[in-house]
Amino acid sequence: MDILELHPITLRLFKQGHPWILKDEYTVRFPKGKEILHIKEKKTGEELGWFLHDPQHPRIKARFLTKQMKGLESYIKQTLKASIEKRNKDYQRENIYLCFGEVDGLPGLLIQKLKDHILIQYQAFVWEKYLPLITKELKSKNIWIQRRIPGEQKQTPFGPDDSEPVFTLKEYGIDYKIVLNQYHDIGIYTDMASIRKEIDPLFENVKRVLNLFSYTGAFSLQGLSHGTEATSVDLSGKYMAWLEENVEMNGWSDRHTSIVKSCAKVLKENKEQYDLVVSDPPSFSSDGKKRESAQDFYKKNWAELWKAVAPKGKLIVFLNTHKVPRKKFRALIQPLLKGGKIIKDLGLSEDCPRVKGFPESDYLKGLVIQK
Ligand SMILES: C[S@@+](CC[C@H](N)C(=O)[O-])C[C@H]1O[C@@H](n2cnc3c(N)ncnc32)[C@H](O)[C@@H]1O
Repeated sequence: MDILELHPITLRLFKQGHPWILKDEYTVRFPKGKEILHIKEKKTGEELGWFLHDPQHPRIKARFLTKQMKGLESYIKQTLKASIEKRNKDYQRENIYLCFGEVDGLPGLLIQKLKDHILIQYQAFVWEKYLPLITKELKSKNIWIQRRIPGEQKQTPFGPDDSEPVFTLKEYGIDYKIVLNQYHDIGIYTDMASIRKEIDPLFENVKRVLNLFSYTGAFSLQGLSHGTEATSVDLSGKYMAWLEENVEMNGWSDRHTSIVKSCAKVLKENKEQYDLVVSDPPSFSSDGKKRESAQDFYKKNWAELWKAVAPKGKLIVFLNTHKVPRKKFRALIQPLLKGGKIIKDLGLSEDCPRVKGFPESDYLKGLVIQK
């Protein structure tokens, strides 16, 4: 047993469901050279359970695993098996999270099934040692691995030489091109799949869709699959070319328009109106000159954004950062709504559920606004 004193705030948050022990004056006293800690809080005498110790991590020094266990190896095997079994159902897509980190008791470990490939992404250094064990449990020849430690330079996944890095997968009947070995991200955000399903009815009876910050085009493809016209806007020519491949592969090029420009600029110049506008900015974006937060993008460009929505149309706005809680995002958008009404809150679910008391698991927030 490791009898350790924790910051009173850490202890309070832990009791509310927060699984992390963040770096502070107390964590510097944690025993060195141990990969797991069995913590009993020194002052309260409470047994908190087993934690994954990550002294190398710049911020998150320990992550809660479980209240009781016999050994880390058997814990990993059993927990991974349970996590996969839990998702043994038909999601109507070939991209599924088999393990979603903290939510599944394997903190900082994300595992996606992407058709016949598997992508393991790890955010805690300690997982490096257990990758062979995890790989063995997953029983696949197509396992790709990506280190995603916050603050480090972005890395691309790596995989076996005989595993094809480029392939197509289907999500709700739509084909997406996946590229594992070129970029930090792979062409689809699987965590948003449940949101795409939830908003799918909003594309029905819609003539024109505007997809801002389109990346490889998920929302454009969704509109096109419903027979709409779609306009995609992204600053990156590379992503737009990828998007166009996706559109073409599905046979919808005749109804699609690409604009490679900053969204702010496009909105300023825009004279069109769309029945459905989707805006999914990165938490921080840059037009090559200025760096701007997504919140600032909304504050500065709201009038133009709203103008682009046709009468009785809908606007879907997203914010992708755990740093702004759900309530705060609403409070930011509410005063901007002149005549609009929020009709739906969007968040992660299904294979990527959120955990109460752990705001980091609720990083993706969306609001559907009716004009
Ligand atoms: C979070 S991704 C969007 C994900 C996408 N909506 C999806 O569902 O797959 C953000 C995208 O915004 C683009 N981007 C960043 N800054 C931009 C800007 N100022 N104007 C237009 N696009 C921008 C990036 O190139 C990237 O493709």
